[in-house]
Amino acid sequence: MKYLIINGSPRRKTTYGIIKQAKSNLNGEFEEVHLMEEQIPICVGCMNCIMIGEEKCPHSDKIQPIIEKMNQCDAIIIASPVYALNVSSLLKNFMDHTAYLYHRPRFFTKKALVVVSTAGAGHKKVAKYIDETLRHWGVNKVHKIALACGGKETLETSKIDKAAINFKKDVESRKLHSPKFSDVFYFNLWKSLAVSDNPMKADAEYWRKTGLVNCDYGPEVNLNIVKKLFSKLIFGFFKLVM
Ligand SMILES: Cc1cc2nc3c(=O)[nH]c(=O)nc-3n(C[C@H](O)[C@H](O)[C@H](O)COP(=O)(O)O)c2cc1C
Repeated sequence: MKYLIINGSPRRKTTYGIIKQAKSNLNGEFEEVHLMEEQIPICVGCMNCIMIGEEKCPHSDKIQPIIEKMNQCDAIIIASPVYALNVSSLLKNFMDHTAYLYHRPRFFTKKALVVVSTAGAGHKKVAKYIDETLRHWGVNKVHKIALACGGKETLETSKIDKAAINFKKDVESRKLHSPKFSDVFYFNLWKSLAVSDNPMKADAEYWRKTGLVNCDYGPEVNLNIVKKLFSKLIFGFFKLVM
């Protein structure tokens, strides 16, 4: 199994300590991206990635190699400390640069482990935010470790180990889970925008080129009859109103 670790903490202390403990339960190849070392400039809001194509981002030389690593791995471990009740600016900046993935989801076969550390508050909310973002990117299943570590001498290794072992079993099973209704909903929202009369160029190209335009959800993922029907109904509805 190939694991890609994206560390959104500027240092290698508590958050990275949790990553290391989780890693000790996993077998395979690991690649680490420390966003602090990547020196990604702040997203300038040009909208090029969303409107024209991700290759037109002025920082694509920094972002696309990381996306390529995400394409190549089986599973992603993505981590952040809580800063002012949110993700670190490092991780937020990365997420701003990858906002186009909301419009053009992929990673339907990938599993993820979200790691969040905080002194005392915000860890659940922040883990939920990262989870939501990953699901918008198409990630099949998101596991979470969100720990309040303030005032503790040592990490709660039993909690970390339990979550990491579940993650490992899931990754190694290669079993793809049924998406949530909300995942199917957003898939169809973007799909219908891509085939609307006035689509964004990059979206229209992506949905056609990948063939996703003909799918009810990521093609590798099985939908039961209810979700298939839901997908078609939602798509029909969006086509009507757009
Ligand atoms: C700028 C900054 C903002 C922080 N904001 C919060 C916060 O809102 N709530 C909280 O409980 N801890 C907060 N913390 C504490 C960190 O979340 C906590 O110490 C975390 O485990 C640090 O992880 P690290 O060792 O990977 O940097 C903040 C720390 C910093 C440096």
